[in-house]
Amino acid sequence: MENNKRPESMARITTKEKADSFIAEQIKQLKKQVGSKKVLLALSGGVDSSVVAALLIKAIGKQLVCVHVNHGLLRKGEPEQVVEVFRNQMNANLVYVDAVDRFLNKLENVSDPEKKRKIIGAEFIRVFEEEARKQDGIEFLAQGTIYPDIIESVGVKAHHNVGGLPDDLKFELVEPLKFLYKDEVRVVGSALGLPDGMVYRQPFPGPGLGVRCLGAITRDRLEAVRESDAILREEFAKHGLEGKVWQYFTAVPDFKSVGVKDGARTFAYPVIIRAVNTTDAMTAAIEEIPYELLKHITKRITAEVKGVNRVLYDLTPKPSGTIEWE
Ligand code: XMP
Repeated sequence: MENNKRPESMARITTKEKADSFIAEQIKQLKKQVGSKKVLLALSGGVDSSVVAALLIKAIGKQLVCVHVNHGLLRKGEPEQVVEVFRNQMNANLVYVDAVDRFLNKLENVSDPEKKRKIIGAEFIRVFEEEARKQDGIEFLAQGTIYPDIIESVGVKAHHNVGGLPDDLKFELVEPLKFLYKDEVRVVGSALGLPDGMVYRQPFPGPGLGVRCLGAITRDRLEAVRESDAILREEFAKHGLEGKVWQYFTAVPDFKSVGVKDGARTFAYPVIIRAVNTTDAMTAAIEEIPYELLKHITKRITAEVKGVNRVLYDLTPKPSGTIEWE
């Protein structure tokens, strides 16, 4: 446990200068730890794995093998951004795995939220393991563990880490961010040149849109979640709410309601908007979104998202609701 305690002498990383010296020190240590060996990383495109990737690319370049698994439950534009930033801009050794059909087939007709989570987690490990076996000479596994993951026994990351690999794939761990708090990880990410949209993004659950396409996932409702979420994010960014609201997203339930469009009856899905503020995700308050903005977003979602005829705004704090719907 001793080496899992943040050194008392370690100053908070609050500025680019402090981040630069952390980065320089980590590069030295990573080179020493890894030598000329290869390191594997599951790169989701979330803040932590992205910062680990950028740091390791600086330290060991192509000795880092990044595996990005597209499970079909990512937000609009995310897999493309991972390829653009890491392969095209940072010249990383990136393996892109299109596992969309594989995940969606496994999830077909599964409506229990915990079963959905288990399937997504287990399938993720399986896909990652297959990719790991295709690589020669890997000796290290990099992980975006951060300090709250260590000090809180039920860290968010516990849901979707890759700790379930079989024994013959148990690599030595590389965890360069393990003493950093989230705000420090973001400062380091910016100093490494990662785009703001990647570094300052809101939290996103490991099972992704899978727990926002409520009940048994269908491709039409999953697209409705993805498209409505993209509209919500675009409008929040345009109206200065991006950094102000802790988490905001849409969910699509598995029932339809009657509506009307161009004089004809429709029978389509509703979209639920959720926007909350919290400090620790244990309790959460509703964000008071300007009414005009809510009406504008409603108009856009009902006009632009296929198969949707209503928009609802969830007014429930946590408790009694949880932040996610599943
Ligand atoms: P709840 O819904 O429990 O969410 O109020 C609290 C925070 O945790 C996130 N969350 C998850 N994150 N895997 C994750 O990585 C999960 O299965 C999961 N479920 C909820 C949620 O988005 C919120 O930030």
